[in-house]
Amino acid sequence: MIIEPKVEEYLYGLLPPRNAVLAEMEAQARQRNIPIVGPAVGRFFSLLARIHGARRVFELGSAIGYSTIWWAEAVGPEGEVFYTDSSEANAQEAAGYFRRLGLEHRIQQRQQDALAALRETPGEFDIIFCDISKHEYPAALELGLPRLRAGGLFVADNVLWSGKVAAPDASADTQGILAFNRAIYADPGLLAAIVPLRDGLAICRKR
Ligand SMILES: C[S@@+](CC[C@H](N)C(=O)[O-])C[C@H]1O[C@@H](n2cnc3c(N)ncnc32)[C@H](O)[C@@H]1O
Repeated sequence: MIIEPKVEEYLYGLLPPRNAVLAEMEAQARQRNIPIVGPAVGRFFSLLARIHGARRVFELGSAIGYSTIWWAEAVGPEGEVFYTDSSEANAQEAAGYFRRLGLEHRIQQRQQDALAALRETPGEFDIIFCDISKHEYPAALELGLPRLRAGGLFVADNVLWSGKVAAPDASADTQGILAFNRAIYADPGLLAAIVPLRDGLAICRKR
């Protein structure tokens, strides 16, 4: 999407096989056009969470739970990951995958608006991952930052938005991404970087 296709193909060709459940979810996502982060980003999340020693992760926008599983495996048996999605069908499908991997005890599912779920869930988080509708990114950042512990990470997907950030249209989603990217670099309380992996990932550390 952002990386030159042959280089992208090379990068994905390096990835080791995933477990049977993740592989099935990837196939489902391809067949049904479900916008999951995919295995290169999933692996990056796993690395990020392990480097960070993350135990408590809140995910905004989880769909069938593919990215949730990468976080849940990385936080370990004492960790806790919050799944949020407004779709009941997605939440039910995700629950089946979590059970099959024996991860259901580390994942709390909230089938409701993700921002409302974050408001209603007490405590601080080591990582907040944002993957909801793109026009909601500025609101997610505003709500999420006070909920991160000092040194916590706010991570967001699709921040290069298929390259539309460089030739923006007037849509609410594109404008949401642009406002979000400006905000994370302008905020003196954050150390932010955008990694051009797949559709662009923002990693922001709360200082
Ligand atoms: C890009 S998909 C999430 C993919 C998932 N993070 C993954 O990589 O496996 C976005 C999901 O967020 C949900 N969504 C969008 N806005 C939402 C909101 N405000 N509250 C709850 N769910 C939302 C949609 O239903 C959709 O399933």
